[in-house]
Amino acid sequence: MSCQVKPIVAIETSCDETAVAVYQLGEGLLSQALFSQVELHALYGGVVPELAARDHVARLPELFQKALSDANLQVGDIGGVAYTAGPGLVGAVMTGASFGRSIAQTLGVPEVPVHHLEGHILSVLLDGAIELRPFPWLTLLVSGGHTLLIRVDGWGRYSVIGESIDDAVGEAFDKAAMVLGFDYPGGRALAELAASGDDGAVRFARPMLAKGSLDFSFSGLKTAFATQHKKMRHSNEDLAASYQAAIVDVLVKKVLLACDAVSPNLLVLAGGVAANQRLRDELAAVRGVKVVAPAMAYCTDNAAMIAVAGALRQAGGGVESVSGVRARWDLSELSGFAVESQFFALDEA
Ligand code: KG4
Ligand code: ZN
Repeated sequence: MSCQVKPIVAIETSCDETAVAVYQLGEGLLSQALFSQVELHALYGGVVPELAARDHVARLPELFQKALSDANLQVGDIGGVAYTAGPGLVGAVMTGASFGRSIAQTLGVPEVPVHHLEGHILSVLLDGAIELRPFPWLTLLVSGGHTLLIRVDGWGRYSVIGESIDDAVGEAFDKAAMVLGFDYPGGRALAELAASGDDGAVRFARPMLAKGSLDFSFSGLKTAFATQHKKMRHSNEDLAASYQAAIVDVLVKKVLLACDAVSPNLLVLAGGVAANQRLRDELAAVRGVKVVAPAMAYCTDNAAMIAVAGALRQAGGGVESVSGVRARWDLSELSGFAVESQFFALDEA
């Protein structure tokens, strides 16, 4: 293993998933261990920050051991420790960051703070067979906390060109799901219900904001859903299908607008809502641009994506210096880094 890049271990605790993964550039993902706190928070209808942080602390040591042993590695084989340094729930982020830092210091290996959203953006790289086109790329990052259109001009070089002015799209899914009686986060349950409904039953508005705007607004749609539900004129299946159709329509229209502005060679989907099948299908049908999406398991929060981002930054001279953690962290503040073509080559456009 001497001339190879050593494996990196990565830790993710920015919200309600405690995750550890081991990844090696050139080899791929060696292992991952994940515990979801969903049941812990379901009772409260949302993530309770203090509970999240306490549970991360309790689970991290065991998950770390499991990830290492599943990868058949000893601690001495590790060449770096990546961890999510933000953005996220500050107490939760802090637990993983302190755990990661102390391991790195104990082992005498570099620590690699990672931006959680860069992890999402690069999660498509976990598919080792992916064909990458030259930059610029356009990323649609849709999760419980973010709805972002990001122009990617190079490795580590991001500009946000559109975002939600109110609720994130995952929040819009989750709030409607709660009206239907699903536990938090109910986005996936709503999508499953929608599969057997009529998406033309209710004509929800498609909030587009000003002409040409790449920003999003979902709070009005969520209110319209609650109003329709109260009227009891439609089945839950039809309501869910119509609501999902409206959300996906808005996302697709804004992606098309952004494609006009950016002329990307690649459209990259990321984040928990990228697991939505209707969204994936409709974007896959967009002509003129190649679309790539992470495997379902890597759409929602995980440590494998933090490991890829950390491994690339470590190998490419792009380790960020972060003291403490960053509850807020602008993607455009990140520095660029180099990626050797034996790891991820950019094919012809
Ligand atoms: O990326 P993620 O795990 O966490 C954040 O960083 O927010 O995203 C979670 C979000 C939740 O809002 C969840 O309901 C939503 O992704 N989600 C879905 C689907 N699967 C997960 N929304 C719509 N359709 C799905 N299939
Ligand atoms: Zn996330």
